[in-house]
Amino acid sequence: MKEQLHELKEQVMLKIKESNTVKELNDVRVAYLGKKGPITDLLKGMGKLPAEERPKMGALVNEIRESVTEILEERKVLLEQQAIQEQLENESIDVTLPGRPVELGNHHPLTRVVEEIEDFFISMGYEIAEGPEVEKDYYNFEALNLPKGHPARDMQDSFYITEDILLRTHTSPVQARTMEAKDGAAIKIICPGKVYRRDSDDATHSHQFTQIEGLVVGENIRMSDLKGTLDLLAKKLFGAEREIRLRPSFFPFTEPSVEMDISCFKCGGSGCNVCKRTGWIEILGAGMVHPNVLEMAGYNPEEVTGFAFGMGPERIAMLKYGVEDIRHFYTNDIRFISQFHRTEA
Ligand code: DAH
Repeated sequence: MKEQLHELKEQVMLKIKESNTVKELNDVRVAYLGKKGPITDLLKGMGKLPAEERPKMGALVNEIRESVTEILEERKVLLEQQAIQEQLENESIDVTLPGRPVELGNHHPLTRVVEEIEDFFISMGYEIAEGPEVEKDYYNFEALNLPKGHPARDMQDSFYITEDILLRTHTSPVQARTMEAKDGAAIKIICPGKVYRRDSDDATHSHQFTQIEGLVVGENIRMSDLKGTLDLLAKKLFGAEREIRLRPSFFPFTEPSVEMDISCFKCGGSGCNVCKRTGWIEILGAGMVHPNVLEMAGYNPEEVTGFAFGMGPERIAMLKYGVEDIRHFYTNDIRFISQFHRTEA
């Protein structure tokens, strides 16, 4: 039995040495020192030994168990240290490696166009005004010379929230709000913002889109001031060689009213698919502020006059960048959105 014990000890020592991970080592401990292991078996078999041998053998088994346990512990500490060392080596950072390039974001094409237009007007001394998207019927229609039941209200299908509140159908209500707030003082503002119409979405219609409104009020503001301003804007947005043309039109809040066309930037006027063979492209609506509108906002139309205009940045962006479907601006496909760079004419 003594020999058996020594042989067993040799075996365990060898297994311990051969263990290369804490887990392997633990398996050895369970196999040899565990309840079902050979040492337990040996202890159980002691009953068969002569009485005088038992204490000696008991002591020997204990001694072997203790020294095996001690060696197991030592090996465990060593393996644990090795594991930590390895982990540290794997996790080490090579600070001399070149950095990864950071991808730059870019502005949405609509943001670019709106900012370009804002910069232009700011350089001419305009201020930026804002108004609510959930608007009173009064400012959206009535204060703009569109009383209830006026047939021109049908020009803009609206999302009503209550009888008197709606999602604004254009940025023109900011004209009325600004005039009311300025209380008779001169005004030079533009107002960019979101507007809503009860339209079915297709390549050229969206139930939500953007507009930029402009309003100038003061003494001696004339149609020629409007024309000069729009001419500069057209050249800024579509190139210095652009010409403009004003066509008579109708808006309830301006009199006279006009629509502005620019000479086609693709064919230069000879006729192509962009200008539908007319040589001209419609860009915006404008006019001289209607006396009723001035009066309702507390201005005296005998003393001051004004001009106003309204344009759609989507349409301008579509023309500038050759975008064929307005829905591209809102579906946020990164392949579309990341193509645009600010262009300055
Ligand atoms: N509010 C008009 C629309 O949404 C656009 C417009 C036309 C605005 C003429 C104006 C203007 O200020 O003078 O269709």
